[in-house]
Amino acid sequence: MTEKPEPVGLTRGLTNYGDMDFARYLRLSMARSMGLSSELLRKPVVGIAATYSEFNNCHRQVPELVAAVKRGVLAAGGLPLEFPTISLGEVFLNPTSLFFRNLMAIDTEEMVRGQPMDAVVLVGGCDKTVPAQLMGAVSANVPAIQVVTGPMMTGRWRGERLGACTDCRRFWAKFRAGEIDADTIEEVEGNLATTAGTCAVMGTASTMASLAEALGMMLPGTAAIPAVHADRIRAAEASGAAAMMLAAKRITPDRIITEKSVENALRVLLAIGGSTNAIIHLTAIAGRAGITVDLNRLNALSDTTPVLVDLKPTGPFYMEDLHVAGGIGAVLRELKPLLHLDALTVTGETLGERLAAEPGYVDRAVVRTREEPLQPEGGLVALFGSLAPRGAILKRAAADPKLFEKEARAVVFTSLEDLAARIDSPDLDVTADDFLVLQNAGPLSPSGMPEAGYLPIPAKLARAGVKDMVRISDARMSGTAYGTIVLHVSPDAASGGPLGLVRNGDRIRLSVKERRIDLLVEEAELARRRAEAPAAAAMPKRGYARLYKEQVLQADEGCDLDFLRAEPSCPSAGRATD
Ligand code: FES
Repeated sequence: MTEKPEPVGLTRGLTNYGDMDFARYLRLSMARSMGLSSELLRKPVVGIAATYSEFNNCHRQVPELVAAVKRGVLAAGGLPLEFPTISLGEVFLNPTSLFFRNLMAIDTEEMVRGQPMDAVVLVGGCDKTVPAQLMGAVSANVPAIQVVTGPMMTGRWRGERLGACTDCRRFWAKFRAGEIDADTIEEVEGNLATTAGTCAVMGTASTMASLAEALGMMLPGTAAIPAVHADRIRAAEASGAAAMMLAAKRITPDRIITEKSVENALRVLLAIGGSTNAIIHLTAIAGRAGITVDLNRLNALSDTTPVLVDLKPTGPFYMEDLHVAGGIGAVLRELKPLLHLDALTVTGETLGERLAAEPGYVDRAVVRTREEPLQPEGGLVALFGSLAPRGAILKRAAADPKLFEKEARAVVFTSLEDLAARIDSPDLDVTADDFLVLQNAGPLSPSGMPEAGYLPIPAKLARAGVKDMVRISDARMSGTAYGTIVLHVSPDAASGGPLGLVRNGDRIRLSVKERRIDLLVEEAELARRRAEAPAAAAMPKRGYARLYKEQVLQADEGCDLDFLRAEPSCPSAGRATD
């Protein structure tokens, strides 16, 4: 018996009426109503996951990028079909965009799997959209390529270059310290984010764009192209053409997102001094492929990966500077001896083939050599100890080394509300030598793990000139922020982790050298506190909030929903078979 050829384009995944020939006939007759020729309707289909939303400033130019992707698909002989998905604008969501990341990943996965497409182009950009799209694409396992919206250009204000959002925080700190007045901060507000695109520094969006390229899921050289640059539009067009190649060769995400490419992405994360959020997102993306990101492995990689890129929030430069300095290609070439060069990319070539073919211009002010790095070790480090049995993260590249080996008194805030109510109180019993501790801001807290780990310096200390303190929480931190900030403490306080047992005046010991963070309180006392802990918050009665609360994992597991991960022992679990 001759085998039936695999269906292509609109004849994939037919709606089931119990008569497949009828289903094909009905679908094609409905598709005719879109005004498409019968010739086009027979072509391979490239879906375009479009995330334009007026609630997402970072995606303002998505329609222009989608139009360019369509040109690329058409020129390569395919039929491009755009479809909307959830869009997550970082500052427009309550409680947090992370809370909705998994919902967007479900939307992306199911629409990619449920609609007839031979490949998909994922157009995203703002912090949580790229990880959500990659998570969904890995689970759907349809040939996929990522296009990002690209970073904003910087603006100018009184002779200074400004870019969202490290400079947002810098000026807000000045305002809190009384160094600038309300009129000035309002003027600054109008000059921080002046073009389309994602935040202009090495924040979470830029980090995730860089990791998408390092993973091999995005075209070479496209992570750092500014949103408003004509090259960005050309990159989108080229990605449409590449999607046609991926469809023809059936190069699926499980061939690209492997243990090797995830490790390459971790190396790049460390070398660019990337956002702490990215470790959560990369863990979640890898988890969809059945790959575990072990924080001990992160430490081992961190010890042997230098920081090479000098962007804000740790250095003086912006993403537009990285683009003209050589982009992520320059970073990858510098890291070459440390990378798995046989990892496949969306070009159909391996990473090694890509790097061998690239020209070599690098601006060494922005991307350093391995011999003369900015820092000899990686930007992130995982800490373990009695306060964080499953780990915590410190972005040492953005922290003050003078605070790395220190024992101090805890000043505790039990929630975001408590923090807001007391942090600036003149009566707050706090000195610059204390550790500020925020509880109940983790994934299981009602606040949904906000970027609140960058606790403000108490106003009276800020006015006295204190710029940094050790701050510890189960929250996250914006990739654009900086300071000696211990984040993602796992398990979180809301799930009964030791962080919730800290009381004012307890001693905490931090040792970055030993990779430890310990609560120096006797076990008997901790047991007593555990016994009198308040009951867990009520389960939401319905909707996505209930699903989230029932299923969300801790930070060390990527905060994905448990039932969406692939089984580590069964990497193809949860994948479409077509
Ligand atoms: Fe979208 Fe910063 S707000 S990337």
